[in-house]
Amino acid sequence: MASLVRRSLRGRVNKALPQATPGQCLQGPAKPSASTVILAVIFAVLVLAAPAVHPQSAACLECHGAPGMTDASGHSITVDGNTFSASVHGGLGCTVCHTDIKGYPHPAHVAPVQCSTCHADQASALSGSVHADGVSQCSNCHGDPHSIFPKDDPRSDVYPLNIPRTCGACHDGHSALAKKYGLSNVYSEYMDSIHGFALSKEGLLVAANCQACHGSHHILSHNNPQSPTYKTNIPATCGKCHAAIEAKYEAGIHGKQILAGNLKAPVCTDCHTAHSILQPTAAAFRMQSTPICGDCHKAQLGTYRDTFHSQLGLLGGYVQTARCWDCHRAHEILPASDPLSAINKANLVKTCGRCHAGANASFVEYQPHADPRNRKLSPGLYFVRLFMNLLLISVLTFFVIHTLMWTIRSRYIQIKNSKAGEGEKHA
Ligand code: HEC
Ligand code: HEC
Ligand code: HEC
Ligand code: HEC
Ligand code: HEC
Ligand code: HEC
Ligand code: HEC
Ligand code: HEC
Ligand code: HEC
Ligand code: HEC
Ligand code: HEC
Repeated sequence: MASLVRRSLRGRVNKALPQATPGQCLQGPAKPSASTVILAVIFAVLVLAAPAVHPQSAACLECHGAPGMTDASGHSITVDGNTFSASVHGGLGCTVCHTDIKGYPHPAHVAPVQCSTCHADQASALSGSVHADGVSQCSNCHGDPHSIFPKDDPRSDVYPLNIPRTCGACHDGHSALAKKYGLSNVYSEYMDSIHGFALSKEGLLVAANCQACHGSHHILSHNNPQSPTYKTNIPATCGKCHAAIEAKYEAGIHGKQILAGNLKAPVCTDCHTAHSILQPTAAAFRMQSTPICGDCHKAQLGTYRDTFHSQLGLLGGYVQTARCWDCHRAHEILPASDPLSAINKANLVKTCGRCHAGANASFVEYQPHADPRNRKLSPGLYFVRLFMNLLLISVLTFFVIHTLMWTIRSRYIQIKNSKAGEGEKHA
């Protein structure tokens, strides 16, 4: 808005007083040309109060500026002259867009306006996008063609704070168009996320809006390798703003695997989601996130679940216990064999020491993934389990044999006794 005012101010001052340059407008009253400048400013402010109408537009607005004007079929043909004049196209006049019209009387029906004559780049980007099949005209995102403002003007439909609502008009899960195309309710998910909150509640212009991740005109499906939302492009897309985290991620095993083309490794959205991103330190994230690592590392999830740390987490929602990333880090995750890894033997005292103040070399002998089936990893547990199993099996075998023999013996005595009884009767 401010820049717009400055731009028009400058134009008008220069026209009114060719000798006054924009620089002079900003100079204090002590300068020689002060009075001329003050006059010029007053003049400009007066002119701005009632937006100047392009001379040719003025002729059109004599009819079309009247409120409530309709065409033969009852369709409104009123154009708000003040808004149009203040808009980004205000200085161009009506006929740059309505090229069929040369004056009045004009034809009752004219050819549709082609925005592409002046905005060829945007038009061709749009025609190669997911929105190409005609559902999205320029006006679907830019609104009324007579009140278009620059994208950094809060009145613009594509001003950062307004973009989610603009895209959300269709991507809301319940509008007629959403039903027709099966579009899910991305809007609500996004608004409840950390980015949506930062944008709508904190008014943070730098928070990610739809455009920041998807682009504006050349939006592609996430299945398209050219798309910024294609799996291997996601770290760079988020990294535009989270640069330091992208660097850490790329130094870790997951980032390296993605770079090497292993699509099974996670990118940002596998752990954070795309539209429902939570604050990672919030209890809600810490409580539900163990399965995030566990979905891919099932064996370690299983052994973690058997440990004190996990049991504590399950009991009454204890948030402070160690989650996978408290020991492994979240982004710079490395195999135990890597000297830089948080779980490398040399670094364990430090890693565990974050929470266990007195941790020393013997404390970190504790196995966070103790697995009694794994002789190499947990030899003690392995042999205890082996002994217990052998004991169980031999005790069971002994008693089965014992019971069997007991049954046979008692049956034998029973038969023997009954035969002896019969012999006595006959005698
Ligand atoms: C004297 C009044 C008058 C003036 C001046 C006038 N128009 Fe119109 N305009 C009309 C009327 C009435 C209609 C509705 C025509 C109809 O539906 O039969 C119309 C319709 C239109 C339409 C819609 C056409 C369509 O296809 O639906 C456009 C666009 C338009 N005018 C632009 C302009 C422009 C640009 C100017 C200035 C160069 C202008 N008009 C000057 C009265 C005027
Ligand atoms: C930036 C381009 C642009 C400019 C400049 C412009 N229009 Fe339009 N106008 C459009 C578009 C787009 C439509 C929608 C119909 C279409 O696509 O042809 C439209 C539609 C109209 C209509 C039909 C009613 C409606 O809303 O559908 C009228 C009347 C009209 N314009 C008058 C004017 C007048 C008067 C001016 C100048 C004060 C003007 N237009 C300037 C782009 C423009
Ligand atoms: C799917 C929504 C959408 C559609 C459809 C759309 N735009 Fe945009 N447009 C945007 C967004 C979002 C921005 C803001 C981009 C930014 O902030 O960098 C924008 C910005 C612009 C800009 C400013 C320069 C730029 O590229 O950033 C122009 C000019 C523009 N659009 C013209 C058009 C024209 C012409 C059409 C129709 C051919 C069109 N747009 C269709 C969403 C859209
Ligand atoms: C006659 C050429 C012309 C036509 C036709 C035209 N525009 Fe523009 N448009 C311009 C000019 C010139 C600017 C101002 C560029 C600037 O300030 O950098 C502009 C600016 C814009 C902007 C703001 C750019 C920004 O920096 O944020 C948008 C959005 C836009 N036009 C959309 C449209 C749409 C939508 C249509 C069709 C309804 C259209 N334009 C038709 C010439 C045109
Ligand atoms: C006028 C309604 C409308 C608006 C506004 C709109 N979209 Fe869409 N969008 C659609 C439709 C309809 C589709 C499905 C197109 C298809 O499947 O052919 C779509 C598809 C998409 C897709 C691809 C979905 C997929 O499954 O492949 C993305 C991503 C997308 N839109 C993002 C956006 C963004 C970001 C904005 C705002 C800058 C936006 N859309 C504005 C209607 C809209
Ligand atoms: C922080 C980045 C980010 C933001 C902000 C964002 N998206 Fe997405 N979006 C993605 C990613 C990444 C995907 C790809 C699918 C996935 O990973 O879940 C996606 C997927 C989509 C899809 C469907 C699937 C497809 O094929 O691409 C639509 C539709 C969509 N987004 C629309 C929107 C809309 C509308 C907004 C704003 C309200 C928005 N997105 C905000 C990153 C984002
Ligand atoms: C346009 C810049 C931008 C992009 C792109 C972006 N973010 Fe953000 N993100 C932010 C800002 C700004 C915040 C801070 C919000 C706050 O603290 O209120 C944030 C916050 C976050 C947070 C919460 C951080 C915390 O400490 O609470 C996470 C997690 C996050 N983003 C993940 C992502 C992911 C994953 C992507 C990609 C899919 C992404 N972001 C893309 C700007 C961006
Ligand atoms: C393997 C899962 C995973 C991947 C992949 C991942 N993150 Fe994270 N991210 C986490 C976890 C877990 C936390 C919480 C860390 C904590 O609480 O110490 C986190 C924290 C964050 C934070 C908050 C700041 C911080 O360090 O605590 C931001 C922002 C963030 N991640 C962005 C990203 C971005 C951007 C990417 C992609 C380049 C990404 N994450 C990849 C799991 C992941
Ligand atoms: C989308 C699946 C996926 C998710 C989610 C995931 N990982 Fe991984 N992880 C992999 C792949 C693939 C590798 C590399 C191949 C391999 O060595 O197993 C890997 C490697 C590792 C390694 C090195 C193991 C080794 O043997 O070299 C560790 C440690 C690790 N991940 C921990 C985590 C932690 C902690 C989380 C959660 C914060 C997590 N992973 C989330 C898929 C995933
Ligand atoms: C209390 C700290 C701690 C927690 C919590 C923890 N780990 Fe570990 N993790 C370790 C240590 C130490 C090692 C290395 C020794 C070993 O293999 O037991 C390891 C080993 C691993 C390995 C193999 C790494 C390699 O290089 O071979 C993976 C994969 C792994 N953990 C994933 C996970 C996942 C997934 C979770 C959560 C479900 C998790 N860890 C929870 C400390 C932890
Ligand atoms: C995020 C914090 C955190 C990290 C990191 C962490 N723990 Fe724990 N751990 C806890 C909490 C909380 C408890 C339960 C309270 C307590 O007893 O101290 C616990 C309990 C334990 C216990 C059982 C109770 C005890 O104190 O004897 C052992 C053993 C243990 N942790 C070992 C480790 C080892 C080994 C590491 C490093 C590989 C580690 N922990 C990393 C938070 C953590």
